Amino acid sequence: MIRIRDLRLKYSAAAALEAGLVESGCVLNGLSLDVVEGEILGVIGRSGSGKSTLLRVMSGLEPFQEGSIQMGDSELGPKSRQAAQAKYRAQTGVVFQDFHLFPHYSALQNVALALKIVRGLETDAAEREALAALEKVSLRAAAHQYPETLSGGQKQRVAIARALALKPRVLLYDEPTSALDPDLRFEILDVIRGLKSLGITQIVVTHEIPFARRVSDRIAVLAEGKICEVGTPDQVLDRSHSEATKELLKRNWG
Ligand SMILES: Nc1ncnc2c1ncn2[C@@H]1O[C@H](COP(=O)(O)OP(=O)(O)O)[C@@H](O)[C@H]1O
Ligand SMILES: [Mg+2]
Repeated sequence: MIRIRDLRLKYSAAAALEAGLVESGCVLNGLSLDVVEGEILGVIGRSGSGKSTLLRVMSGLEPFQEGSIQMGDSELGPKSRQAAQAKYRAQTGVVFQDFHLFPHYSALQNVALALKIVRGLETDAAEREALAALEKVSLRAAAHQYPETLSGGQKQRVAIARALALKPRVLLYDEPTSALDPDLRFEILDVIRGLKSLGITQIVVTHEIPFARRVSDRIAVLAEGKICEVGTPDQVLDRSHSEATKELLKRNWG
């Protein structure tokens, strides 16, 4: 359903230098990956391996120099026109590590705001759809609470509802559990697994291997700007064949 081919991305020399990369360093270096419709794909890799970059590229927010991404009938490339980019982007939703909620808006208003801005809905219609989205993450009862009265797990669920409300085909998560206490990770695990039944495709970047094992249908390992291994959690984590995966697992507490 998503076909990524030969993706190459290099930050500008100045930015790369500042980030401590060698000047010629490509963050993504001929990366190819297929994502299956409806699956939950975990993406793991060392810190700095390009996981967040890949996610931003897949969301249509980060330009790249070579390669292509095909999603359904829309294709994104280095020279895509604005209309094509917008069409591609409308199919994706992003959930960040630190929620990005407005503190002076209730859960409902945070979700409704996205619907007003992106889809141009009136307040009534936006709030109706926002409630339906909150329901999907089991938060309808907390709709009128403000972020400061919500737990970290609840805040992340509001952020997921906000992305979900825009009805993307693909939800992209960047380290969705990193800002949470360990016992709240299960909440997010349950929500992501639960959303699978809605037919939505989900890509979950995480550096937490045990979380990746539980949440993913398949896991892809990112190293040296490419996907070095992809398979079921058992295949990748228990019977790894790539040196990069073995090295990553050796360094991980989980
Ligand atoms: N906007 C940017 N400009 C320049 N370099 C960047 C930028 N974003 C990330 N990088 C560099 O690209 C590499 C990959 O970063 P990132 O995608 O954030 O990795 P990860 O999410 O796997 O930790 C890192 O070396 C990082 O410093
Ligand atoms: Mg990252």
